[in-house]
Amino acid sequence: MGIQWRESLSIGVEAIDNQHKELLHRFDTLLNACQAGQGIEELKRLQTFLDEYIHTHFNDEEALQRHHNYPGYQAHHAEHLYFIDQINKLKRETQQEGVSTHHVVETNNMLLKWLLNHISKVDMQLGAFLKSGTP
Ligand SMILES: [Fe+2]
Repeated sequence: MGIQWRESLSIGVEAIDNQHKELLHRFDTLLNACQAGQGIEELKRLQTFLDEYIHTHFNDEEALQRHHNYPGYQAHHAEHLYFIDQINKLKRETQQEGVSTHHVVETNNMLLKWLLNHISKVDMQLGAFLKSGTP
């Protein structure tokens, strides 16, 4: 069980693929921690990690898009903002209520699902554009 990066998720840009690998690895660590009954502690670690890493990652992706005048930039940027918003919302909740199993489940279900969907569709479109030079 668990979540692993696979070749079919490659968008063809090594630096971005490596960041995706790291992100998925961190989510996998959370899944494993859940199985070991340590999901709550691991969620706190994941939140701290995402705070910095997700901004670096999204900034790198967006800088690449601006550099290549990517026509889908605005829509892609909006997706990133949505994810950051969800992370911040979850973080606020855990700060106010304390981390509970419900937050761990929500992170697994919602954030991981979003991330996989985003990489396999939206980031993949970016990869195709960078390869072919057309949207
Ligand atoms: Fe993206």
